[in-house]
Amino acid sequence: MAYRVLGWTVPPHPRLPRRLLFIFTLSLSCTYLCYSLLFCCHRIMPGPGLGETRCLLVRNVGGKKLLQKSHYCSLQAGEPREGPGRPAAPAAAAPTGLGGRTPPRPRQAEPRPEGGNRTGPPPKLGTKRLPRAIIVGVKKGGTRAVLEFIRVHPDVRAVGTEPHFFDRNYDRGLDWYRSLMPRTLESQITMEKTPSYFVTKEAPRRIFNMSRDTKLIVVVRNPVTRAISDYTQTLSKKPDIPTFEGLSFRNQSLGIVDTSWNAIRIGMYVVHLEIWLQYFPLSQIHFVSGERLITDPAGEMGRVQDFLGIKRIITDKHFYFNKTKGFPCLKKTESSSLPRCLGKSKGRTHVQIDPEVIEQLRDFYRPYNIKFYETVGQDFRWE
Ligand SMILES: *[C@@H]1O[C@H](CO)[C@@H](O)[C@H](O)[C@H]1NC(C)=O
Ligand SMILES: *[C@@H]1O[C@H](CO)[C@@H](O)[C@H](O)[C@H]1NC(C)=O
Ligand SMILES: *[C@@H]1O[C@H](CO)[C@@H](O)[C@H](O)[C@H]1NC(C)=O
Ligand SMILES: *[C@@H]1O[C@H](CO)[C@@H](O)[C@H](O)[C@H]1NC(C)=O
Repeated sequence: MAYRVLGWTVPPHPRLPRRLLFIFTLSLSCTYLCYSLLFCCHRIMPGPGLGETRCLLVRNVGGKKLLQKSHYCSLQAGEPREGPGRPAAPAAAAPTGLGGRTPPRPRQAEPRPEGGNRTGPPPKLGTKRLPRAIIVGVKKGGTRAVLEFIRVHPDVRAVGTEPHFFDRNYDRGLDWYRSLMPRTLESQITMEKTPSYFVTKEAPRRIFNMSRDTKLIVVVRNPVTRAISDYTQTLSKKPDIPTFEGLSFRNQSLGIVDTSWNAIRIGMYVVHLEIWLQYFPLSQIHFVSGERLITDPAGEMGRVQDFLGIKRIITDKHFYFNKTKGFPCLKKTESSSLPRCLGKSKGRTHVQIDPEVIEQLRDFYRPYNIKFYETVGQDFRWE
């Protein structure tokens, strides 16, 4: 047997007819060609579960056609794979690079731009992806403004309405959540905002479970003015609720604040933040000052863009200040070229609150605020 196998490779005997030699050579070439083709096709054929490995293999194969096919894959190459290989301990969560991505999903069905034509405008295709960044809070902090401002950026696409997935709709599953998202290109960041996430106990764990790389944005504001603003909004919908003072205290003369009232509870920022920090490193949470957002929107948005790892495109040129309203307005939005200020309901005048009550609430919040400044390493100057 061994002799016969070896025999195939020795030069043919001179007595053999030339035709036989020709056929023999031809069949050998054919066999080699077939093997080469099979081997090659195996590499480019999409196999389930091959993921990034497949793309790396493709990149090793030369040739223009193959390069074109691997174009999409090569965008992914070099990114760490998410999944069972990564450690699961929340405390070990490393600050991610600026290119944090949602977990990989099957890509076979995704429409995508063909590689090789870089001259034309990007096709209006794309994929619905889970958000890579979420504005998680806080109510009445200025979350709508941040969302409207950031979606001016061409590298950001955001849902306009609040999905409330991680608090009210979690049972509907991630596929439902993804279906709400706008289509994005690989380079664009999908975003949403739901301010109640920040005070939802389960939200940090649930978002971590979706993707530990999710970037979190929290818009915070003086908790006393936030509480009054919150109450004013509720009052406009339900005019017969008790007074602010009545709801704020269990016993006003003793100065016992009712921490079970949502309008009060939301402003105890550090209490909620502790839960988030059990899952996400501080470097993955960006705090926007609701006050500075009004006085210096371009500065605040500059920091948000840096945090998201996108170019500073939104600058002073995008804003003008409406003195009547007392709020900055956007000159241009994603969808229209009309100027856009904060909505009608935003910036409504607050109800008159007894200054004594405000003083009591300031005293109540002071220790929470100081702890919050210490935890995030930033002084918001709410005095
Ligand atoms: C590239 O895209 C542009 C715009 O979509 C199109 O007009 C052009 O024909 C394309 N060129 C090739 C080579 O596909
Ligand atoms: C985490 O998400 C997966 C789906 O991605 C789900 O099956 C699982 O139940 C979730 N676990 C928790 C603790 O939410
Ligand atoms: C508040 O506390 C004071 C002193 O203990 C008490 O006299 C008063 O009845 C309390 N008020 C209410 C509304 O509970
Ligand atoms: C400024 O705000 C006021 C009140 O909302 C509005 O009537 C006015 O048109 C705004 N002006 C500009 C230039 O946006």
